[in-house]
Parts: sequence; C-alpha cells; structure tokens
Amino acid sequence: MKKFKRYTVTAALPYANGPVHIGHLAGVYVPADIYVRYLRLRGRDVLFICGSDEHGVPITIKARSENVSPQKIVDHYHQVNKKAFEDFGISFDIYSRTTSAIHYQTASDFFKKLYEKGEFIEQTSKQYFDEEAGQFLADRYITGTCPYCGNDSAYGDQCEKCGTSLSPTDLIDPKSTISGNKPLLKDTKHWYLPLDRHESFLRKWILEDHKEWKTNVYGQCKSWLDQGLQPRAVSRDLDWGIPVPVDGAEGKVLYVWFDAPIGYISNTRELTDKWELYWKDPETRLVHFIGKDNIVFHCIIFPVMLKTEGSYILPDNVPANEFLNLEGDKISTSRNWAVWLHEYLDEFRDRQDVLRYVLCANAPETKDNDFTWKDFQARNNNELVAILGNFVNRALVLTEKYFGGLVPEVKHLTDYDKDTIKEIGKIKTSVEKSLEHFRFREALKNAMDLARLGNKYLADSEPWILVKTDKERVQTILNISLQITASLSTIIKPFLPGTADRLCSFLNISSYQWDETGNAELLKPGHKLGKSSLLFEKVEDDIIERQLAKLKSAKTINNNKNKDMKPQKSTITFDEFLKMDIRTGTILEAERVSKANKLLQLKIDTGVDMRVVVAGIAESFEPEKIIGKQVSILINLEPRIIRGIESQGMILMAEDPSGKLTFISPAEKAENGAEIK
Ligand code: 2FM
Ligand code: ZN
Repeated sequence: MKKFKRYTVTAALPYANGPVHIGHLAGVYVPADIYVRYLRLRGRDVLFICGSDEHGVPITIKARSENVSPQKIVDHYHQVNKKAFEDFGISFDIYSRTTSAIHYQTASDFFKKLYEKGEFIEQTSKQYFDEEAGQFLADRYITGTCPYCGNDSAYGDQCEKCGTSLSPTDLIDPKSTISGNKPLLKDTKHWYLPLDRHESFLRKWILEDHKEWKTNVYGQCKSWLDQGLQPRAVSRDLDWGIPVPVDGAEGKVLYVWFDAPIGYISNTRELTDKWELYWKDPETRLVHFIGKDNIVFHCIIFPVMLKTEGSYILPDNVPANEFLNLEGDKISTSRNWAVWLHEYLDEFRDRQDVLRYVLCANAPETKDNDFTWKDFQARNNNELVAILGNFVNRALVLTEKYFGGLVPEVKHLTDYDKDTIKEIGKIKTSVEKSLEHFRFREALKNAMDLARLGNKYLADSEPWILVKTDKERVQTILNISLQITASLSTIIKPFLPGTADRLCSFLNISSYQWDETGNAELLKPGHKLGKSSLLFEKVEDDIIERQLAKLKSAKTINNNKNKDMKPQKSTITFDEFLKMDIRTGTILEAERVSKANKLLQLKIDTGVDMRVVVAGIAESFEPEKIIGKQVSILINLEPRIIRGIESQGMILMAEDPSGKLTFISPAEKAENGAEIK
C-alpha cells in the first residue's frame, strides 16, 4: 500500500435544515471519527474536516413554510448540529459552514477557473416560471396530479404516493406552490459539467486503479459508468446560494452539489494557512466518509471538478456506508421516526460511548442495517458491561485487594502466559488491519477480543483461588492482566474515547501512543494505580420501554396525521414566547377597507385601551356579524400601516389546511384585557 505523508479526512457536510440522527452517525460520523482518532494515535498528520451544508432548495422550502429567511434556518441548525457533534465527541478539526465568506470566495473562484478553462457547456432549456412571483420554480415548488396514480399533490420531482420519479412537465395540471397559479414554461440558460467528456478517465481511475474500494461503492460507480454519463447542470434559478460569477447570470446560483464539496476545501482554508498541502500534495491521502446517496457526487462529479481544475489531488478512498433503519422502518425526519442525537445526549447523560459502540457494532457497512433499542440494551449489558467492564474491573479490584493497588512484578512466565502476551500483539495487528481497510465492525470486534482474552486469562488462571497458596503466581497473573488493560486503554480509544480516558485515569497513566502498545511491558512494577469505578452501567428495561413508547407515539401521531397539515415550525424558547402580550378583547366596530377585498378595519376594546386593527378576514366574515365578538389579540405587535391605516395589533385566528378561518375566543366570556398565556 502506498505510504502517505498526511491525511485529509472529510465527513459529509450535513444539511442545516434539521438535526442529526443515528442514521447520519452510523453511516458517516462515527466511522470517520474512529478512523481519524486511530490515525492521530499512530502519530499521523491528519485534518478532519466537516461543517454545515447551507444551500439548496429544501432549506428555502423550510424557510418559506416557517415564514422566516433561509439564513435564520441555517443559523439555527448550524448551532444545534455543531453543539451536538461536540457533545458527542466527534473530533472535527473544524466545523464551519457554506455560508461563510471564505466559502463564497473559494466556490466562486473554482467555478470561474473551470469556466475560463472552457470546462462547462452552456445550454438553454424550458423550465416552469411563476409569473406572479417573478421566478423560476425548482421541482419541489411545483405540485400537480401524478400521471401514474392520480395523486393530486405530487411534486415536480417525485410522487410521494406511488414513489415514481417525475419531471415537472410530467405533472397534470401543474401549480406553483408559491402563488398557486399555473406556471408557464420559459427558456433559461444554465452551465453544465459535461461528465461524458471524462468517462474514459473515470473508467480507468475508478474501475482499474481503485479496485480496492468497498464493493458497494465500486459497484455503484460501475453501474453509473456503464449506463453512460450525461452533462450535469451546475447552476440553478434560485434566490438562495452562491451567485454564478459570470456576466449574464443574474438570478442564478451555483447548484448546491457544486458548492457543497468545495466546502471541504474552504473549511480547510479557514482552518490553516497550510491548506494547500492537504489538498494539492500527492503525498496527502484524501478520504471522504459519506452515505450511499452521496456516492455519485463524491466518486464521479467532485473528482471531475478537481481534475479539471488541475491543481488538486483526487480522493484515494470513499468508504461510503449503506443506510441504518430504526426498529425495522426507514428513518424519516418528516415522520419523526429517528433517534435524534441532541435528544439522546439529553436523555443518556455521559453515555456517548454506548451509542458509539452500538452504532459501530451494527454499522450498515455492506448492507442496510437495523437499530433496535433491545439490541442497544443487549450490547450494553452483554458486551460493554459483561466483557469490557467486567474484565477491567476484575483486574483493578484484585490488584487493589491483593497488592494495595501497586502493579506487581512478574515472577515466572508459563507457556500459557507467553501465548497470552503474544495474543495481545496479534489482536492489535488485526485491529490495525481492519481499520486500514475501513472495516470498522470487524475492528471493534477485534478490539473487544482483547477484553475477551483478558477475561479468559483470568478465568483460566483463577488468581482468587491461587492467592491462598501461590501469591507469586498471582503477581504474574495480575501483572499480565494489567498489561492487557493498559493496551486496551489505547486499542479501544478510537472507538470509545471517553471510556479510554477513564481507563487511563483508573490506571493512573497518561495515554500511550498506538505503536507503544501490544506488549506486556507498559506498566512498570510498583506503579500505583488510580481510583477506579465501574466503566459501564447496565441499561434497565424501563429505559428501553420509555424509548419504545416514544417511538410508538411518533407512529400514532403519524398515522393520525392530516397529510395537508403544515409541519411544526422550529422550536422557540420560553422567553421568546413570554415576549408576546396576548389579551382578550371585544370587537366594537367592523367595516370593510375600501378597494381591499380581504381586509376589515376593526375597533377593539382590549381592556388596556381602544385600538384599530386591520385584519385579513373579510372573505370569511361579514363585518356586521362579528360586532360584539370576543377575540384574542396580540397587543404588543409593532404597529403597521396597512392601506394607509395604522393597525395596532393582530387578531389571532385558527386556519385549517383548506383556509377556513375561526376566531380564537375564550370558551366562556372573560374580562377584556385578560392575559392569554
Ligand atoms: O446528503 C447530504 O446531507 C449532503 N448535505 C451532503 C453534502 S457532502 C459534501 F459534498 F458537502
Ligand atoms: Zn403517483
């Protein structure tokens, strides 16, 4: 295998439009972090790069549905995810974002360079345009009737009822989700990366030179290449993203999948002035950790971008994983069918390593896999507690009991002792081999074999019996057991970093480098051990039942959910809620606002004062029929001039998906001015 001088390891930039869940962790972040921690322990020069992916249509859709700017959405989720990763112990060297100035510059320059080199082709095509909104519509902004199953709310890219992939022009009776109007087809120009020009390079580079890639990755690349590649548009008509930096591209932005992978480069630039060494020196090994839905972007499109730019290295490996399911069902953000990282961290304090262990032991490395809470419990109780925790605890407690916590001296090595010592080295080598080949499940199993070895050694040697007759022998047995524990503190560190640190403190050592371990000479006789406690605690049934009940309630809510109902907006703090001053009030006068079909001018007794409020309810209520009605009114809303009238507050209304409006009135008559809270 080629020897590299340094490593650039990237983990897919998660979209900043929702929180991270166990599927992301098992597929990308846990294996990437294990690999990086291992490289660091081996003293390799490595940078671990990640950040938020903050562009793309779904972010604009979420922003629109919550009536906030896309920037507000990404600011929120960038912080949520950055903190969750930190608290979970994913050891990124940088977690930045694709709305940073340095990223705009890097991505723009990258595009310009390819443009100037003539690496793009320009093509004009017809796309749906919303005349009222004055903008082209991304596929997700168009709904209509599915030509296959008749579902009348299919999207321009897919019918969620029958699962068919669609193009917007397939839809019968298309409508813009922005104005509700029928969109018109209009010419638009875009820049395309002609992937077909690079087919023979890709065939050689992947199919011949990278036969070592994981079979799922290699297979997907081969099938893309066998089908023949087409030019891919790298720009979009959208008002959220990095402007296309050429003349005549007003209103157009870089396609999110063009700018996002460049984010790895921008984030490295933000981290260090030496960034070019990590991206341009052929002695650097570039490795991308991703999920399987990202394979084409990282193995075909981004490498073509890097190669055509001319000064960059290409990825040496892309160890993509398959998907993780949850309790037999696909993880889904919109159905809330997920275990969210920030919730886990809240509910399982100081148990980061348990989740890391379970997700690695069960990683969807070669096929989709399933996370179940029963398996989580079983792996914790039967493996972490019963194998790892039990061995370490026995070695430490027996040393404390028989030798006052001092590492005893080796007196005489039997053949069995010698074999056991050799086995420590062999296990270490096998962990190394598995990690170097991105076989993380196997690596973890091998690492746990060291604890299994320790348990077997203790069980076979029975120091608790020999102590009565042969204390010298017990010295040797416990010395070897402690040496295994010392090696364990390093070998398990990439997988269970928090546990490894605790183990070091139990042993009263600072940690070892990887290459120092795998022998029986780490702890010197007479070394005083530190204070110890149990490494892991059992997970009891009630904890698992609570998690299962939580999932069950998500399922019940989903089954009862009205599909047209708007999804929940992002959470606000209690303090934000308290800022709103909502009171009961009575409508004293109501009249239509001239030349405005939708508006009524109301005079309201708020209990605090008399006010004028302009409300958009004229299509639903006759003015004379609402006089005397008690309503809820937000009184501390900044006054606004509407059609020349100052509106001093807002009447609260309930609006169902069909647009039907209902007043929010107290169930019984209340005094005007009563606070609603
Ligand atoms: O699939 C995703 O979640 C993308 N946001 C991954 C981007 S990876 C890279 F290209 F930035
Ligand atoms: Zn359909």
